[in-house]
Amino acid sequence: MSLYRNVIWFLKGIHEYTRNGFEAASKNFEARDLDISVVGRSFMITGANSGIGKETAMAVAKKGGTVHMVCRNRERAEEARADIVRESGNTEVYVHVLDLSETGKVGEFAEAFRSQQRSLNVLINNAGCMVNKRDVNAMGLEMNFATNTLGMYILTEGLVPLLQNSRDPRVITVSSGGMLVQKLRADDLQSEQGGFDGTMVYAQNKRQQVELTGHWAKLHPAIHFSAMHPGWADTPAVSTSMPQFRQMMGDRLRSAEQGADTVVWLALSRVASKTASGTFFQDREAVPAHLPLAWTGSSAEEVQRFVDQLETLARATSSQTPHQETGDATCPRQTMTAATPAVQS
Ligand SMILES: NC(=O)c1ccc[n+]([C@@H]2O[C@H](COP(=O)([O-])OP(=O)(O)OC[C@H]3O[C@@H](n4cnc5c(N)ncnc54)[C@H](OP(=O)(O)O)[C@@H]3O)[C@@H](O)[C@H]2O)c1
Repeated sequence: MSLYRNVIWFLKGIHEYTRNGFEAASKNFEARDLDISVVGRSFMITGANSGIGKETAMAVAKKGGTVHMVCRNRERAEEARADIVRESGNTEVYVHVLDLSETGKVGEFAEAFRSQQRSLNVLINNAGCMVNKRDVNAMGLEMNFATNTLGMYILTEGLVPLLQNSRDPRVITVSSGGMLVQKLRADDLQSEQGGFDGTMVYAQNKRQQVELTGHWAKLHPAIHFSAMHPGWADTPAVSTSMPQFRQMMGDRLRSAEQGADTVVWLALSRVASKTASGTFFQDREAVPAHLPLAWTGSSAEEVQRFVDQLETLARATSSQTPHQETGDATCPRQTMTAATPAVQS
């Protein structure tokens, strides 16, 4: 089955995920979808210093939105912020330092952000990694899982109360078409069984993100949730984690800007928020989250068992972390006023 899934997926990828695939799909894009101003709306983008995240932050800034860049390295983040401010002319761009693999700090960060900001209209879970040699964080959690799944789970859960009190709230998660080869596995979240294959662990995490998107859509109907595949884009993640793939694909890879196109569309356009919540997108279109005959679907019970484990880990990881300040140095605090809707916690 896994050979079948991999072959079908790769053939699909060569046809759809490349630069040519983007150019073909983009013939159906409506330019007016993005002919919009988002002044007054705020956007949090994780991993916004590089690749798809930076291109998304740039596009949002150019449309007048307030951008909260959540990055793990201050220097790289400030450098990217300077580029975004220079090119967009928008100074409402703020850097927050957070390493999503440090799962104990993520809940604290969300709580501090919630107490300091009046609203958050759009959360873009973009940060991601493919660590090819098994490694663990300070809590003993496998690094890809800690970053791609648990960190983004804790961040999203922590920001739901703020999103719910904001206008037209959206959560967009940058998953990957690689998840099509995986069925959700709730029995080995730490990848301890069998040999460790970073590519497959990453693909499993990306499946987990898609299942979470569907779960959250049912749980929080006031928020629009979506997951998406950016295609195969030439970014530092690809050159670092998949150098042979990058070499093989050469200039058939999309640009980072092309990879970011659907994230930007989901974040900004009015039409995107009219689509069904919980959907998986590629090139501005809702697409199936499963390959035909691949048997990758999960029952509601399997998804719930997975979410229950995340919740248990999220609680354990937060209780093990000593309280510390979040690394937010440049964003002004917004004090609550009578006109501000109360933030539930
Ligand atoms: N490029 C593709 O072909 C492709 C295909 C499918 C899905 N994706 C997904 O697209 C998203 C963006 O990746 P990209 O291709 O644009 O690569 P990228 O340029 O390397 O961006 C990845 C971003 O995630 C950040 N990040 C990684 N681990 C983090 C952590 N523990 N805490 C906080 N931030 C962290 C990176 O920070 P540093 O700069 O500090 O490392 C960087 O800002 C990822 O979720 C990736 O899985 C990409």
